[in-house]
Amino acid sequence: MASEHMAEDISRILLTEEQIQEIVTRVGQQITETYRGKHLVLVSVLKGSVVWMADLMRAIDLPVEIDFMVVSSYGKGTTSGHVKIIKDLDLDLSGLDLLIVEDILDTGNTLHSLMQLLSTRNPRSIKICTFLDKPERRVAPVTADYVGAIVPDEFVVGYGLDYDQKYRNLPYLGVLKPEVYGD
Ligand code: IMP
Ligand code: MG
Repeated sequence: MASEHMAEDISRILLTEEQIQEIVTRVGQQITETYRGKHLVLVSVLKGSVVWMADLMRAIDLPVEIDFMVVSSYGKGTTSGHVKIIKDLDLDLSGLDLLIVEDILDTGNTLHSLMQLLSTRNPRSIKICTFLDKPERRVAPVTADYVGAIVPDEFVVGYGLDYDQKYRNLPYLGVLKPEVYGD
């Protein structure tokens, strides 16, 4: 059961607010250097990437456009290679430099399908920027172009990432205590 105070449910802090700020600054600078003179569009996959997106866009010193998408995986089991669009983009991607902004790259199934889908819309380029990467869990052939931090194979929450839709507003990244999953 979740406690009244989120911090009581966290066993270990993986990234502090200060460490996250350093990541935001570093990745924002990398993107700024790469996309100068391009037509950059940041596409956030809701809901997990919303905090990362909000910070990252302010660390990019370029005239960016933003858009949002909601997808859900479907098919049997966890190896499903398909996504269903719940909310599509408003922008027409043709000729644009698309950067998909994700919270965490885990099995890679979601992003693999999403990349295939979005590449049919004729963007000039398509890349991935993920806050976290869990390479040990990868199933689909997906590599992120920008990675905030690599994390071990543990369930993490905070900074947009949820467990049962909670802990997204925790300002740091932590590992949840096992007893919170239990009941
Ligand atoms: P996948 O890469 O298709 O397996 O899906 C990644 C999605 O699973 C992420 O966008 C998250 O919503 C969720 N996810 C994976 N690992 C974690 C975690 O450790 N904490 C919270 N959500 C996670
Ligand atoms: Mg997600």
